[in-house]
Amino acid sequence: MPLIGFGLWKVTKSTCADTVYNAIKAGYRLFDGAGDYGNEKEAGDGIQRAIKEGLVKREDLFITSKLWNTFHAREHVKVLAKKQLAFYGIESFDLFLVHFPISLAYVDPAHRYPPEWFGDDGKVHLQNTPLQETWQAMEELVDEGLAKNIGLSNSQGSLILDVLRYAKYPPAVLQIEHHPYLTQEPLISLCKTLDIAVTGYSSFGPQSFLELNMGRGAQLLLEHDVITSVAKTHNKTPAQILLRWATQRGIAVVPKSNNAERLAQNLASDGFDLSEAEIKSISSLNQNIRFNNPGEIDPRIAIFA
Ligand SMILES: NC(=O)c1ccc[n+]([C@@H]2O[C@H](COP(=O)([O-])OP(=O)(O)OC[C@H]3O[C@@H](n4cnc5c(N)ncnc54)[C@H](OP(=O)(O)O)[C@@H]3O)[C@@H](O)[C@H]2O)c1
Repeated sequence: MPLIGFGLWKVTKSTCADTVYNAIKAGYRLFDGAGDYGNEKEAGDGIQRAIKEGLVKREDLFITSKLWNTFHAREHVKVLAKKQLAFYGIESFDLFLVHFPISLAYVDPAHRYPPEWFGDDGKVHLQNTPLQETWQAMEELVDEGLAKNIGLSNSQGSLILDVLRYAKYPPAVLQIEHHPYLTQEPLISLCKTLDIAVTGYSSFGPQSFLELNMGRGAQLLLEHDVITSVAKTHNKTPAQILLRWATQRGIAVVPKSNNAERLAQNLASDGFDLSEAEIKSISSLNQNIRFNNPGEIDPRIAIFA
């Protein structure tokens, strides 16, 4: 799995195909999508255009997607995976993740897609599907060649350890929120011990959440003195420092940008090394601030409690 990929959450639908095509042209090979992002068809169009024009072959790309919460029942996992594969026009995902360890009532995609968090009545409807059932259905995707690897997202240590008790295929990857305000060292060290690769999302901390009014008033990491001074030392941008702080410790990143220049800048965030002292000073900004917390949508799904 490449250490730097392109995140598809909030990539504008109308320009998504062009953005993905241009990202491939710029050198991106990993795309991090999800049923919930509502732009998989457009992302797939961009990918197919790049393949048709000979920019890349399918096997050069690493395509990740995620199973949404309303499709955790055994009978829905494969149907949705196949629907998502059809959006991309591909035969199998390189990685398919359980987006959240939260099971919500099924919503027929013909009725609403993506279904998001709420029912038609504006309320969250829970469903009693244990993760074991979902994980075993995910394993069937591997057996049938629909996913090369499967993994978890937004999961904590106790849940990962439980999955390992019954897994035929252990999670290959854990994708978690990870930035200097939420460093999650114990979870990352558990994954290392268990040989589970880690992808960090929302590497720029509050930046992605500003447009959703979910920035919690936190000081912007891209403007934080510690980050800007390290950036100056290395003649890099603050964004590149935040990405390198993760990748240098073996944590993959999937920054998102709707802007061609920033997108290229994010991919060019390797090729230099931070000192141990710089890594430590960035890590010391940790305040355990979590921007993506379902418990704030409904206390019954407070998975990080
Ligand atoms: N598993 C999960 O539950 C989960 C949750 C959240 C995210 N993710 C994945 O992680 C990906 C990345 O996370 P994210 O989208 O939350 O946020 P992010 O990549 O941390 O930040 C994106 C924000 O930063 C801006 N930006 C991007 N590059 C920049 C640069 N070089 N300089 C300055 N600003 C820059 C973007 O604006 P512009 O677009 O205008 O450049 C956007 O506002 C997502 O797209 C998704 O694939 C997964």
